[in-house]
Amino acid sequence: MKFFIDTANVEEIKKGLEMGLVDGVTTNPTLLSKEKKNPDAVIGEILSVVDGPVSLEVIATDTKGMCEEARRLASLGTNAVIKIPMTEEGIKAVRTLSREGIKTNVTLIFQPVQALIAAKAGATYVSPFIGRIDDISLRGMDIVEDILVIFSNYMFETEVIVASIRNPLHVLQAALLGADIATIPFNVLKQLMNHPLTDIGIERFLKDWQSIKK
Ligand code: G3P
Repeated sequence: MKFFIDTANVEEIKKGLEMGLVDGVTTNPTLLSKEKKNPDAVIGEILSVVDGPVSLEVIATDTKGMCEEARRLASLGTNAVIKIPMTEEGIKAVRTLSREGIKTNVTLIFQPVQALIAAKAGATYVSPFIGRIDDISLRGMDIVEDILVIFSNYMFETEVIVASIRNPLHVLQAALLGADIATIPFNVLKQLMNHPLTDIGIERFLKDWQSIKK
């Protein structure tokens, strides 16, 4: 299972890389806006510090505009992957970009047939947004399960990125289902290594060690 980091913050990316937990990066316009810097400069820096795939989202909403933006973003780095929203125009763009050898990540997926359509169009990745589905009191992870069955039924090579992850349980569920990738915010990435009993255990070992040394 690959771990991507879901952020546009270069410091978080560097810390994640040091932890050995960053196989790739996903960004979106909201994440880039939080950096309050020139987005092109931020994108350039991310592409240079990360070897793995970096998803960069188009802003255009029409096929022609998406393709033009995608070609420009793809030229910025060999590891650039173009995030395209799951719309009719987006799917037409994915088909064109796929023929040109440009990698795509179809984003904002909320039901399994959207993922099937993206895979048929030649998407490299699909991103179901789990947390946002949970937010409306539905089971986000059910979508991931269905997508994985569909992709396995038809042997699609498209990889599933479990996105909109909010907590370590989402990562556990994604791993149990055999999802290819989880894209994880930095705060959740750090939580993955923690357990209160680990901290209590270390404290007790150190205390006992001190008692023999006295
Ligand atoms: O990768 C998608 C992610 O950035 C969306 O997360 O928390 O805004 O639903 P969230």
